[in-house]
Amino acid sequence: MKVDNLSVHFGHRSYEIHFGAGILSELGELCRSLSLGEKVAVITNPVIGGSYFHGVSASLQAAGYSVTGVEIPDGESYKCSETVNSIYDSLISAGLTRDSFLVALGGGVVGDITGFAASTYLRGVPFIQIPTSLLAQVDSSVGGKTGINHPLGKNLIGTFHQPCMVLIDISTLETLPEREYISGLAEVIKYGVICDRSFFEYLAENRSAILKRDSECLLHVIRTSCALKASVVEQDEKESGYRAILNYGHSFAHAIEGLTDYSRFLHGEAVAMGMAQSAILSEMKGYASPDDTQRILELIRSMNLPTELIPSPAMSYRRLMQRDKKVRDGGIHFVFNKGIGAAAIEKVSDWDFLLKNVSQ
Ligand code: NAD
Ligand code: GLY
Repeated sequence: MKVDNLSVHFGHRSYEIHFGAGILSELGELCRSLSLGEKVAVITNPVIGGSYFHGVSASLQAAGYSVTGVEIPDGESYKCSETVNSIYDSLISAGLTRDSFLVALGGGVVGDITGFAASTYLRGVPFIQIPTSLLAQVDSSVGGKTGINHPLGKNLIGTFHQPCMVLIDISTLETLPEREYISGLAEVIKYGVICDRSFFEYLAENRSAILKRDSECLLHVIRTSCALKASVVEQDEKESGYRAILNYGHSFAHAIEGLTDYSRFLHGEAVAMGMAQSAILSEMKGYASPDDTQRILELIRSMNLPTELIPSPAMSYRRLMQRDKKVRDGGIHFVFNKGIGAAAIEKVSDWDFLLKNVSQ
C-alpha cells in the first residue's frame, strides 16, 4: 500500500499527515513509529464505526495495542459537554492513564470532540485524527482547533491541541453521502481562492473528475488542501492574525446558518454562498477583477454549490454577523480575496457596504 506524507511543523509538536487509498490497516505500524503508550481509545459514531472501527481496531491490536472502543451519537447536536463527559466516563472506566492516547475516527464532529477530550483528559493526552468526511480531511483534522458547542453558540468552548498524527484514507469517502461530499468541496475551493491560483485552475480543469471522486484526483486535491492549510497554521497557530484568512466566506456563512437555525444548509453550502458574496464585495473594493469574480462564482456553481444569499432583511444579517468572534469595536474583520490566489483581512465598519446585496 502506498502511503504518501506531509509534515506539519510545530517544533517538538510537529506531526505527519499520511495520505493514501486503503491505508487504515497501516495505522498500528505508523503508531509504532511514535512514542505512544500501550492503551488507546478509538472514538467514533455508529455510522462510521459500523464501516471502519473493526479495521482500525484490528490494525492497532496487531501492533500490540490494547484498544477500547467509545461510541458517541452521530450529529452536530452531540458535540456538547454531555458527550464529552460520557467520553471521560469511558476513558476512566477503561483505565486509560496519562501515557494512553485517543484516536478520532470520523468527521469534524468526532474530530473536534475527541481533540477536546484529549486536550483535557488527565491534563492532556496525545491523539490521532482519522478524518472520514471530505471536510474533515481537508480542514478540521489539521491545525489543532478542538472544541464543543455551548447552548449559546457554536464552538464557543475549545482548545488548541495539535494531533500527533493524521491518517487520511480516501477510500473512506466511498461511503460518504453525496451532499456531505459536495459540501466539503466548498472548503477546497476556498484554498484555491485565498492561497493558490494554480490550485484554483486545477480545480476548474478537473471538476468532473472531482465530482466523480476519481482517486488520483482526490489524493491531489486533499494533499494540496492540507499543505495549504498547514502553511497557514504553521505561521499563526493560535489565530492571532493571518490564520483568520481561513475564515473567508465564513462571516456570511455563520449568519446564514443562524438565520436558518443550523438546519437547512450544511456548513459548506453556507460557506459557498458566503464565498460568492465575499468575491462580489472584493471586486467592489477594487481587489479583484470582474473576470476573477465570474470565475469564482462559476467554479462554485459547477461543483453544485449555491451562490445566492438567502433572502432576509439586512438587519437580521447584521445582528448575526455582529455576534461573530471576528467583530471588535463595531467593525468586522472581513476576509477579501485579492484576485485569485491571495487574501487580506480588513476591518470593515461600513455595514451598508457589507450588506449592499442583501434584500432590504
Ligand atoms: P460530521 O462530522 O457531522 O459528518 C457529517 C456526516 O457524515 C455525519 O452524519 C457523519 O456520521 C457522516 N460521515 C462522516 N464520514 C463518513 C463516511 N466516511 N461514510 C459515511 N458517513 C460519514 O460533519 P463534518 O462536516 O465532517 O464536520 C463538521 C464539524 O467540523 C463542525 O462541528 C465544525 O464546527 C467542525 N469544524 C472544525 C474545524 C477545525 O478546524 N477544528 C474546521 C472546520 C469545521
Ligand atoms: N477552519 C479554520 C481554522 O482551522 O482556522
